[in-house]
Amino acid sequence: MPTSRFFRRRLLLPVGGSAALAAALLAVCSSGTLPAIGQSQTKAPAIAQAGTTIGVYSGRHYNTDKELYRQFTARTGIRVNVLEAKDDALLERLKSEGRNSPADVLVLVDAARLDAATDQGLFRPTRSAALQRDVPANLRDSQGRWYGLTRRVRAIVVNPKVVNPATIRTYADLAKPALKGKLCLRERKSPYNQSLVASRMILNGDAATRTWIRGMVANVSQPFFTSDTPLARAVARGECGVGVVNTYYIARMLSGEGGAQDKRLAEQLKVVYLNPSHVNITGAGVTRHAKNPQAAMRLIEFLASPTGGRGYAEANNEYPLKGFGDNPILKRFGTFRADGVSVEQIGSKSRAATQMMESNGWK
Ligand SMILES: [Fe+2]
Repeated sequence: MPTSRFFRRRLLLPVGGSAALAAALLAVCSSGTLPAIGQSQTKAPAIAQAGTTIGVYSGRHYNTDKELYRQFTARTGIRVNVLEAKDDALLERLKSEGRNSPADVLVLVDAARLDAATDQGLFRPTRSAALQRDVPANLRDSQGRWYGLTRRVRAIVVNPKVVNPATIRTYADLAKPALKGKLCLRERKSPYNQSLVASRMILNGDAATRTWIRGMVANVSQPFFTSDTPLARAVARGECGVGVVNTYYIARMLSGEGGAQDKRLAEQLKVVYLNPSHVNITGAGVTRHAKNPQAAMRLIEFLASPTGGRGYAEANNEYPLKGFGDNPILKRFGTFRADGVSVEQIGSKSRAATQMMESNGWK
């Protein structure tokens, strides 16, 4: 979960009826009557959607996202009301609201969470030629219930004073006895690690993944971390030599957004991209009870397009769906080869992955 203090602007979710929710909804765009431009691949005439207001429930929380919603409104005349909250709270909200939900679009980060929402029947299947074109097949649901919007990479950070970065080339290297006492890991309950383990199960099978987990757990000396940023700080301070993180956290530290201290710490770190790397997504789908599914689809198409997707990725130092973008901080880290595992497969394995982590000592 991104935790930028600058962009943190979560709305508290009052537990109550739709009136309370309506009050909590933030009107991002209250005007916008330009006729639609661009090619919507949906069947409804674009002009009929201008003036529509769609509701977006988002697990993301960046002010720059709101700028993108404004751009969307300027292009299409479709207004956007966004409610930002923690992913789990959004799922609970959608379930309790049922047919009365004002949400048309649900945005979540990580395969494990998208899978949970899919299992709970919170998305509806949709079809879009634009999304088929713009979103690679392994980054979207095969039934069109959700689509990737940005990519995020689970990479390695190394403190070169403690561990030689050249010795880490694959995730398997994290389990080598040479790293005893030098590995920092985030808690099992992090969907990011659940998805990483799921991807290893898919690529290498259960037995090899179990051995890998045991080897890593044997290398851990610090308590398991609750999030990636404190883990990165611990590596930078030499409390351990190696950690596993999503690189946008390191990019954020390097940007100075988290303060001079974090910037200094991040500068001690070497980011190592493994080839292949585990890649996850921010994704979105049309909600099951959407009142405006066609207009909702158009927003998802915009956010997945090269134009909208670029801004959506930059907001959180993530990568676009295709290529590596032009974020100068990310360029410092180099490039990676994605492992190509489908996000849908990863999601479907996340519960088995969590069980394997639990039974092999991943706290
Ligand atoms: Fe995050």
